[in-house]
Amino acid sequence: MTVELTPSPIRLKATDAPNQPPKTPELEELYRGFERELLVPLWTEIGDLMPMTPQSKAQPHVWRWGSMLPLAERSGDLVPVGRGGERRAIALANPGLGGRPFATPTLWAAIQYLRPGEVAPEHRHTQNAFRFVIEGEGVWTVVNGDPIAMRRGDFLPQAGWNWHGHHNIATEPMAWLDGLDIPFVHATDTAFFEFGPEEVTTKATPERSYSERLWAHPGLLPVSQPRPLTASPIGAYRWEHTDAALREQLLLEDEGQPGVAEPGHAVVRYSNPATGDDVLATIRAEFHRLRPGTKTAVRREVGSSVYQVFEGRGAVQVGDKEWNVERGDLVVVPSWQPVSFGADSGLDLFRFSDTPVFERLHQDRVEVDGRLVQVAGRRVDEENAL
Ligand SMILES: [Fe+2]
Repeated sequence: MTVELTPSPIRLKATDAPNQPPKTPELEELYRGFERELLVPLWTEIGDLMPMTPQSKAQPHVWRWGSMLPLAERSGDLVPVGRGGERRAIALANPGLGGRPFATPTLWAAIQYLRPGEVAPEHRHTQNAFRFVIEGEGVWTVVNGDPIAMRRGDFLPQAGWNWHGHHNIATEPMAWLDGLDIPFVHATDTAFFEFGPEEVTTKATPERSYSERLWAHPGLLPVSQPRPLTASPIGAYRWEHTDAALREQLLLEDEGQPGVAEPGHAVVRYSNPATGDDVLATIRAEFHRLRPGTKTAVRREVGSSVYQVFEGRGAVQVGDKEWNVERGDLVVVPSWQPVSFGADSGLDLFRFSDTPVFERLHQDRVEVDGRLVQVAGRRVDEENAL
């Protein structure tokens, strides 16, 4: 009989550090036993496994749209889009995450580029996704046979397991931001994927999609339809509505009425019209508008975010880093890193985050200007502080 010895991936080292047991030959022998039996004691790992506050490996970072776009264009010259690769999408790789194409431990963010006449074939997957359009038009995304136009400022959510493909009918190429929960689904081993047709199922190009005509009327639900509880049924949230909602908040502030999130700072959240919840189960999406000269409160939250500057110029501070940002720039904010924005001119910001995951699990925690305001699904006030 032969005994196969699989090398253990575990390496334990006795140290003289405080709070560690005395370093003796007997302890070393115990550690070899742990390695052999694939066991790891908590006392050597507790600082990493159970830190006092979140210690994300992800780093705050800024990607410049002005640098990404020429590389996407060059990819358009060199890399065909079609079955197999599926999408000409180029993802942000956080410098703290070992070169993986992950903006944060849970979120994927990519620039996708489609040339005139090109088709990105249909497929579906369990990952939740959205598209946000920073510039251009001419691409229709087809979701379950519904043709949805993409134009500057539009936000297009698409819950997991819906068929989707894209095609560009314009004479110009188009680039946009893709956001997905790929790293989260990857980490939890819950991914499924299916190929659909190589062509999109319709090349109709209506101004408004079927889903918008059915669902996108303020406060009015179609009685014939079951309530979509898990994700928004609206294929596109149009810029004219987002812009108007933000503009009205600031006008209300001028009139002394409530509306803004803080002085000079209007915020709207894209929501499921049937429930008021987030548009996607794992992703929150918001739009922020700052008046010229506004500086936001310093906010930190459990979970990670990606911001994209839609218009204007300003400064962003994340942890101990600070950058000037302009149209198209993408800012990644890891979990529990304090973030604040300052607007030189006005500043319009699209933001997405993994917040719904943590709120559902009661792991949410929010601090504003150093004061805890929300924890485990409830607001914290002075009397109710932990
Ligand atoms: Fe996809």
